[in-house]
Amino acid sequence: MIAGVGAAVPAGILTNADLEKTLDTSDAWIVERTGIRQRHIAAPTETLTSYSLVAAQQAMARAGVTAKDLDGIIFATVTPDRRLPSAACDLQAALGADRAWAFDVVAACPGWLFGISVAEGLMRAALGDTILVVGAEKLSSITDYTDRGTAILFGDGAGAAVLKRATDDGRAILSTYMGADGNLASLLHIPGGGSAEPLTEALVHEKRHLIQMAGREVFKAAVLAMSRSTDAAIDRAGITADDIDIMIPHQANLRIIEATAKHAEISMNKVMVNVDRYGNTSSASIPLAIAQAEAEGRLKPGMMTMLVSFGAGFTWASVVVRW
Ligand code: UT7
Repeated sequence: MIAGVGAAVPAGILTNADLEKTLDTSDAWIVERTGIRQRHIAAPTETLTSYSLVAAQQAMARAGVTAKDLDGIIFATVTPDRRLPSAACDLQAALGADRAWAFDVVAACPGWLFGISVAEGLMRAALGDTILVVGAEKLSSITDYTDRGTAILFGDGAGAAVLKRATDDGRAILSTYMGADGNLASLLHIPGGGSAEPLTEALVHEKRHLIQMAGREVFKAAVLAMSRSTDAAIDRAGITADDIDIMIPHQANLRIIEATAKHAEISMNKVMVNVDRYGNTSSASIPLAIAQAEAEGRLKPGMMTMLVSFGAGFTWASVVVRW
């Protein structure tokens, strides 16, 4: 079961009006095409670990566990503070979780759902009773702020959940589903900076260390994969769409969310949306939306909850939880 969720974002805010000053774009276009009004952006000195630590400590307090109780840490991110070692090891040290194993999951936007699925499997295999799953990004560090097709979309943030064994009250993860299609990788990727094309001055000059995206193609693939993922999650949980009390989807674009909800025949008043406040925070987006839904009283224990996401890879995933 998901015993506690926490979230944190850097204080700095980049509004659509700010972007209007540097890009050929407008608040009206961004709101109409994406639903985004602002995003939180980390200051250069603010590390991923610093705000992930806040989210993790909040999740642990809500779950009633301490760092010493953690058996493991799974950290979903594409923007670790450094290439080596993992973001999970940096967080383990910051928390003082000295009993916990720690590793990263690289699955882009659905990374946190991949992490939840892996944690659930490890628990079933008796490899942990209390596992921290973090989804956090500093996407501002890999965004090209001269490209209006991507600069308007991304934000920074962190979310975390503590998973514990299911209890007798029925609160549990009821189904998980993951998929990938690496053939379409180049539609949303960072071409350089890996071992095939190590960082050089020329590579940085050509901005090959930053995100490149074919927006329209990714949009279509997102709607298709998010729709199929909701079908799969519902099927695997042995429920119907009518049983869903709340859907908390990846927050990439309001139009993608609306199309997914329409496909699943889930009314928009059962769908959590906060893309207006945070933009697309990749792996942090679902836990950020969960934390807000709980704070607003929209998500309560016992609710049938659908989580669904899509991202670079392509990758997609869905999870049904009796909250
Ligand atoms: O996290 C998961 C992965 N990411 C996503 O799910 C993102 C998926 N894609 C999208 O959300 C949308 O495709 C975008 C928001 C990125 C773009 O919206 P769109 O409605 O697909 O626009 P488009 O790329 O088809 O472009 C339409 C027009 C183009 O102009 P022309 O060629 O018609 O003259 C673009 O150059 O809009 C132009 N445009 C902009 N105009 C003002 C593109 N970006 C902007 C902008 N401001 N920021």
